[in-house]
Amino acid sequence: VVTRAGQYDDELLQTAQNMTKAGKGILAMDESNATCGSRLEGVGVENTEENRRRYRELLITTPNLGKHIGGAILFEETLYQSTKAGKSFVDCLNEQGIYPGIKVDKGLKPLANSNGESWCQGLDGLADRAAEYYKQGARFCKWRSVVSIPAGPSKIAVTDCAYGLARYAAICQNAGLVPIVEPEILLDGEHTLEETFEVASAVWAETFKYLADNDVMFDRMLLKPSMVGPGADCPKRNTPEEVAAATLKMLNSRVPPATAGIMFLSGGLSELDSTLYLNAMNQQPNPWHVSFSYARALQNSVIKTWAGDDAMVGKAQAILSRRAEENGLAQLGKFNA
Ligand code: 13P
Repeated sequence: VVTRAGQYDDELLQTAQNMTKAGKGILAMDESNATCGSRLEGVGVENTEENRRRYRELLITTPNLGKHIGGAILFEETLYQSTKAGKSFVDCLNEQGIYPGIKVDKGLKPLANSNGESWCQGLDGLADRAAEYYKQGARFCKWRSVVSIPAGPSKIAVTDCAYGLARYAAICQNAGLVPIVEPEILLDGEHTLEETFEVASAVWAETFKYLADNDVMFDRMLLKPSMVGPGADCPKRNTPEEVAAATLKMLNSRVPPATAGIMFLSGGLSELDSTLYLNAMNQQPNPWHVSFSYARALQNSVIKTWAGDDAMVGKAQAILSRRAEENGLAQLGKFNA
């Protein structure tokens, strides 16, 4: 028997339900300073704190963003930043009805005695950090662990991924943050859809076993999985309907219907594919809120259009708005390419 503090239970449920309203998804904009830097440098913008702030201001102040976005995941630096005019990003998001979220993991490290795999660090001190983030206005959080199919994956890597996610989720629910549980199965590789299915089957089984062992409340958490499709370099390309069918089959066999939301990552899929696959899933009856928590599939065209030019902010925001709307329609199964 385990004992949970429980003082945030009502608020957690409210947050999870508000974030998963029909037609809504999540904007992932929590790239680490290094990752954000490489995206900025990719469009010729220097990786400075001010340029990261300028880019994030563009995203956060997009008019009507709250129509299709229920939450925005921030990197720690961003949670404490403000617009040029001095309004905190947290206030900007709250005004649009968008919950501010925070990436709380501390990134990937090599996993000893594995097939060159990684593990996700960040549990030390997490309860204290989570309490600080809550004070600063965060109401949900994310932890991303990865599994590589070409690396095996080894049993120890899968177990470590699942166990870390479960400990994190338990700690953060106790601090009033709705946890996004993200066991990302990397797209890299030549594996087929069927091989992805086999690995996803093991990863999701293990993840939900440890979530249950740790008494994580499924109706107050969000799952952020990869779709079950072929590897990026697999010669056989599947249709959106095949990817949707395999992903739903996996969800049906592994994920409790009480789970508040299934918020897919885009993982390197093209903008169009990520929307088509989501749309195809929502054309089938399913018991979940099946939606998106995309970074690249929402932002790729936005950052290219902006490229550091203040004069392009409006145009870049219009693109973000359109990508949010297209994925919002896909959440309803109503997207037409
Ligand atoms: P992508 O949609 O670019 O995969 O990013 C989602 C995310 O937050 C990965 O952790």
